[in-house]
Amino acid sequence: MIVYIKNYKGGVGKSTITKNLAHGSSLVGQKTLVVTFDTQNDSYRMLTGKRWGDTKGFKEFVRTGETNVLNLKNNLWYYPLETDIFGSNLKDKLTKAFEKLKTEYDLIFIDGAPAGDNILDKIGIEEADKIIVPMLMDAYSLDGLAKFLKTKEAEKVSMIIPNMYSGTKIQKAHYEAVVDYLDNTSISVAPPIKRLSLEEELSHDGKSIFDTEAKKSLETRENYLQILGGILNG
Ligand SMILES: Nc1ncnc2c1ncn2[C@@H]1O[C@H](COP(=O)(O)OP(=O)(O)OP(=O)(O)O)[C@@H](O)[C@H]1O
Ligand SMILES: [Mg+2]
Repeated sequence: MIVYIKNYKGGVGKSTITKNLAHGSSLVGQKTLVVTFDTQNDSYRMLTGKRWGDTKGFKEFVRTGETNVLNLKNNLWYYPLETDIFGSNLKDKLTKAFEKLKTEYDLIFIDGAPAGDNILDKIGIEEADKIIVPMLMDAYSLDGLAKFLKTKEAEKVSMIIPNMYSGTKIQKAHYEAVVDYLDNTSISVAPPIKRLSLEEELSHDGKSIFDTEAKKSLETRENYLQILGGILNG
């Protein structure tokens, strides 16, 4: 299954959520792969604590079929992205590459780029089984969501993940508005992921929410397990 973590808006937590879901998935025994569409390879850094320094990545795999995937942990693999410039001549190869990966991994997470609308994004949407949208609970993001849901890819959106939630009155109101708005649709709204300073520290150290026993991480960890359950069973 391919799950595309996507929002054209930057800084909403796409890479952080990819990191936690992918590590969680590997821990529950799913053979898991992360493919990033962001040449900054942030999720690699968040999962390892290191900058990606190699030169061969996903594009080379698509172009030549050469398997140069990185094994990060037990059950967890990563395809870094060296460039997001894919000519239309690579369209078919891109589709085939995803089809091949689907047979090799149980769960593939695509960490979306803040800007998209290129060939990579187009094929990613086509090949994705589910699109998951992390977003902030504010008026601007809600407007963005309404606009996004009118696009073609909205059919694949299965879940909204409210992120960096601190439970203010305004955020609560927006959360309720989103739940209301999506009532009677096939899109679920995940429990809000709290804004935690610990999350910043974890990513800085190349750790996930599943690498800490800190008390303040427990609720968030439960949230991620619930989201993962929704992905695997929903
Ligand atoms: N729940 C959270 N609590 C605290 N900090 C968070 C949380 N989620 C994300 N962050 C922090 O917010 C910043 C942006 O997160 P992240 O890089 O995951 O977003 P993104 O959508 O992938 O951004 P980009 O669009 O640049 O790829 C990071 O510094 C990250 O550590
Ligand atoms: Mg990112």
